[in-house]
Amino acid sequence: MPRIAYVNGAYVDHRDAVVHVEDRGYQFADGVYEVIHLFRHRLIDEEPHLDRLDRSLRELDMAWPMGRSALRIAMREVVRQNRYATGLLYIQVTRGVAPRDHKFPRNGRSSVVMTVRPVPEYPDEMRDNGVDVITIEDMRWTRRDIKSISLLPNVLGKQAAAAAGAYEAWMYDTDGFITEGTSSNAWIITGDGTLLTRPASHDILRGITRQEIIKLAEELDIPFEERKFTREETYAAREAFLSNSSHFVTPVTKIDDRVIANGEPGSLSTALHARYVEFMSDYPKFS
Ligand SMILES: Cc1ncc(COP(=O)(O)O)c(C=O)c1O
Repeated sequence: MPRIAYVNGAYVDHRDAVVHVEDRGYQFADGVYEVIHLFRHRLIDEEPHLDRLDRSLRELDMAWPMGRSALRIAMREVVRQNRYATGLLYIQVTRGVAPRDHKFPRNGRSSVVMTVRPVPEYPDEMRDNGVDVITIEDMRWTRRDIKSISLLPNVLGKQAAAAAGAYEAWMYDTDGFITEGTSSNAWIITGDGTLLTRPASHDILRGITRQEIIKLAEELDIPFEERKFTREETYAAREAFLSNSSHFVTPVTKIDDRVIANGEPGSLSTALHARYVEFMSDYPKFS
């Protein structure tokens, strides 16, 4: 099956999908992105993702590459041309091509590229066994709420996790409070059964999955609090999990070689996972 990418208005073979060497995304990481889960022909939470894209662009004083509804049409077209039922739609907008100069270019034009990557359906063993997490110092800038393509600390963190045989690295701030994972939000359930995640501020990315989980937790009557928690609290947690658009609710069973509870995914994490899959299955198919 051919893989098709979208590059500034053109639908091209993935192998030929290129941007100019002076694209500011390439030279300065001057860009933002979104990843939307294509789940059995459904673009999950498409509008919240576009809202977040809009916010990231506004915060960086970067123009939309085209109108929102035109982008939505192009998104559908690139998904359609790739013909995958399940995958990840990646959208990247940069401040465009200009002679290398830190200042914003005058009369610049934003670039947009989109790719669709097929991904296997969520592996049952992740839900059934959970994953391991390590903790590392958070080395990022102070505007983590902007979904910037500048991901070097996240890349290094994920690599450190892989080198340690773990799936994800949770980062902690200078006071020892967990911020989030390198590509996920972090959650624990305390000994008294309260679901915790860090409040949405400049310190973390406001995950779209995070927002859904908050609603689903309410539906399931799970006591919930947005508050910071320390590394030590994660070790003592009754349950832990991470969330993102690619892996929904994924139980965490070990943090820094400390086994969480009895080492098995907790019942609330499992219930939230199941409810999230239901939410996706009920989501309207795109047309
Ligand atoms: C740093 C970071 N935090 C949180 C998330 C989760 O965001 P979402 O649920 O919108 O995928 C991501 C997703 O890639 C991320 O990169």
